[in-house]
Amino acid sequence: MTDFDTVNYFTDPDLIPDPHPYFDHLRAKCPVTQEPHYGVYAVTGYEESAEVLKDSSIFSSAVAVGGPFPPLPFTPVGDDISELIEQHRTELPMYEHMVTMDPPQHTFARSVLNRLLTPARLKENEEFMWRLADQQLDEFADAGHCEFLSQYAKPFALLVVADMLGVPEADHEQFRVVLGASRPGARPGAIDNEALSSNPLAWLDEKFSAYISDRRDEPRDDVLTSLALAKYPDGTTPEVIDVVRSATFLFAAGQETTAKVLGAAVRIMGDQPEVQQRLREDRSLIPNFIEETLRMDAPVKSGFRLARRATTVGDVDIPAGGLVMFCPGAANRDPRRFEDPHEFRLDRDNFREHIAFGRGVHTCPGGPLARVEGRVSIERILDRMLDIEINAERHGPVGERTYGYEPTFLLRGLSELHIDFTPHS
Ligand code: HEM
Repeated sequence: MTDFDTVNYFTDPDLIPDPHPYFDHLRAKCPVTQEPHYGVYAVTGYEESAEVLKDSSIFSSAVAVGGPFPPLPFTPVGDDISELIEQHRTELPMYEHMVTMDPPQHTFARSVLNRLLTPARLKENEEFMWRLADQQLDEFADAGHCEFLSQYAKPFALLVVADMLGVPEADHEQFRVVLGASRPGARPGAIDNEALSSNPLAWLDEKFSAYISDRRDEPRDDVLTSLALAKYPDGTTPEVIDVVRSATFLFAAGQETTAKVLGAAVRIMGDQPEVQQRLREDRSLIPNFIEETLRMDAPVKSGFRLARRATTVGDVDIPAGGLVMFCPGAANRDPRRFEDPHEFRLDRDNFREHIAFGRGVHTCPGGPLARVEGRVSIERILDRMLDIEINAERHGPVGERTYGYEPTFLLRGLSELHIDFTPHS
């Protein structure tokens, strides 16, 4: 039995299969509780999480991704550590990506994305998704079984981002290979072998620098050109590398997260045949189904903020330099906000209030895209796979299921999902 008062949330494998009893324990003590190992203020309440996320003037995102790892490269002193944050920002993980920036730099970086994630572009991207869903399903559907994450969810989520960014389809196979979502026996064409053994984000940076420089030299009628010619709100032109980072970060932010929610959705359909049946009978329930899946299984498990100045959240005082952790999955199961929060309900009336996509200036810009990915995938999966069942050999029989989850405190998602189904062309 895990002792929740002493367990280390960041390193203890006991919390990986199901962190919710621990989150409930913290929330019952107080929705804002300091954990004992790193002194992190864990926010597990819904209102309190929204309060933190909405106030970027107090809460800096400089530590958004790493949290207590590595420790702060400075000792917080005084009532306002804003200057210290700026002095040491580039020593913090992922400082070059928008998720760790604060306004006004953040506003600039995000404006480049606004050029990309437009409703018109989303519509074109959706057309690609319908084709892609069938292509992915063609790879394994006749077999009547699959490992859903590697065979569908990961390559699908990856190629949707690639298409959103306007990566030519001729290059898609290369992206699959380098970013670890290749299909067996694929012939991706020329790939620099060194790229495969080195950092995939560095490979992406290089690939996109080439695309963007090429489009700046010779504009074409394509999405990469519109990205290459994007300007900051003050009319200045960003450096190539800044455009590149906005683009490449989408792969980091948009692939694993979406793959995880697709995996969770299919697991729920397999574990709850009555939900699967209702979706088959009434496809208009699919958007609700996606939202409730996001509420129950938020793919981002933890994110972090650093208090610039002393402040109070809930009734808890947080000093300047206090490290605050928000947990969308915990907030989404706060019983003060969601009735019977651990129950999956297709007809819950307030599931859209979940904070799986965050809140405030950093609210996920990929939310609309991820929702469409979910809808298109579930539609085609229901069309082409009848009687989806969880594979009992791999996950155990009904009532005794076991699932492996990714061993990280940052994300929540299945590591594998084996399913059986009846193919339907
Ligand atoms: C179900 C899928 C997804 C979930 C649950 C999710 C969740 C989140 C969350 C919680 C944040 C806020 C982080 C913070 O405040 O520190 C975020 C930020 C972000 N997400 Fe997503 N995301 C998903 C899919 C996507 C997709 C598909 C894309 C793009 C193609 C994307 C791009 C981004 C970017 C660029 C940011 C940083 C925004 C900023 O800092 O202003 N995400 N995401």
